[in-house]
Amino acid sequence: MNTVRIGVIGVAGRGKLASYAHSDELNAQIVAGADPDPDARKTFNEAYGRDAATSGNYRTVLERSDVDAVFVCSPDHFHEEHAVAALEAGKAVYLEKPIAVTIEGADRVLETARKTGSKLYLGHNMRYFPSVLKMKEILDAGTIGTLQAVWCRHFVAIGGDAYFKDWHSERKNTTGLLLQKGAHDIDVIHWLSGAYAESVVAMGKLSVYDKAERRTGERTSKVALKPENWPPYSQNDYSPTIDIEDHSMMMFTLANGVQCSYTQCHYAPDYWRNYTFIGDRGRIENIGDSGSCEIRVYTTRSHTAATPDIVHYLKPSSGSHGGSDPAIVRSFIEFVRDGKIPNTSPVAARYAVAAGVMATESLRTDNGLRRVPAVDPETEAYFERGQR
Ligand SMILES: NC(=O)c1ccc[n+]([C@@H]2O[C@H](COP(=O)([O-])OP(=O)(O)OC[C@H]3O[C@@H](n4cnc5c(N)ncnc54)[C@H](O)[C@@H]3O)[C@@H](O)[C@H]2O)c1
Repeated sequence: MNTVRIGVIGVAGRGKLASYAHSDELNAQIVAGADPDPDARKTFNEAYGRDAATSGNYRTVLERSDVDAVFVCSPDHFHEEHAVAALEAGKAVYLEKPIAVTIEGADRVLETARKTGSKLYLGHNMRYFPSVLKMKEILDAGTIGTLQAVWCRHFVAIGGDAYFKDWHSERKNTTGLLLQKGAHDIDVIHWLSGAYAESVVAMGKLSVYDKAERRTGERTSKVALKPENWPPYSQNDYSPTIDIEDHSMMMFTLANGVQCSYTQCHYAPDYWRNYTFIGDRGRIENIGDSGSCEIRVYTTRSHTAATPDIVHYLKPSSGSHGGSDPAIVRSFIEFVRDGKIPNTSPVAARYAVAAGVMATESLRTDNGLRRVPAVDPETEAYFERGQR
């Protein structure tokens, strides 16, 4: 394959990510798109050619023989349908997280990739965050000994803008935010710890956005992340239906015995994740997760909030999501063209969803322990061989 010719399903919002692929340097070109929103298609056509996006129906992209690879950037509840159809059409697929909104759906995407031999890539861009890569490097070097525990606190200031005004606010579209948003962090915890969740337990509730003012009809404004949209009750255009939680806490044990917790709050005033990885010889913690941030390493005992033994100061990288978006798109093109193995993993993406689904079930029922079902071993082996 010479030039990689790309189609985009869901061209606005996250679909803009594909623009990083449209470059001479990567020898890749966007040639087609589909989106039900005419305004989104118009903007896309202005960027990539008059007839690039002619339809709201994603099948028009898949029917084109001049499309080699497809970015699936539609809302979560379409991922399974769009990815399965694209793989069956023989396209290489960049599928945004989450892989699907159910465990069955995620397994169907993996199985379709295996059955068709079409290449599947999952858009877990946090695996290209400089802060995550630095923490992985420190863990792999053994600086804090053998990892025992991981905690992640996720503060989501944009909750009111991005999760409670549109399709995200309904279970039928996302299952819940432990999966929708938490899939990123569960995946990071799995990757850096070297194992997947085996059992989970969770609690959570909706206690702020349920009291906020709802709009009655269709949404007229577009999603906008604005600092002035604060505090949550100052807004009045929330979704008519909100049945997801705005605060969730899950605890989980990985197959290698590492114990983890992940907490997520959608009415926090700040927006970042704070991870700590604790081994039997020290602790790592990030302060800030993108742009200018610090990775602090503690290896000396103290009796107060200690000065870290080592601090890694990370500088901002260019490109969205802390520079991870151009990096992940490059890796996708290299995977499609040269078979280069990326940081991301479809099987890991499925385990992130499975842990999120089981935690959500625990949270909404008895807060009891749930087992995370395993992936079919032959399917897992296919992906471990690099999809060969
Ligand atoms: N990895 C990340 O950092 C990251 C960041 C943001 C969003 N996402 C993911 O990207 C996906 C899209 O999120 P978003 O925030 O851009 O949502 P959005 O609602 O802002 O945009 C989705 C786009 O898909 C279009 N669309 C809706 N239904 C469609 C259909 N049936 N066929 C084709 N297109 C359709 C919409 O018109 C819109 O243009 C989600 O799955 C989300 O989880 C990932």
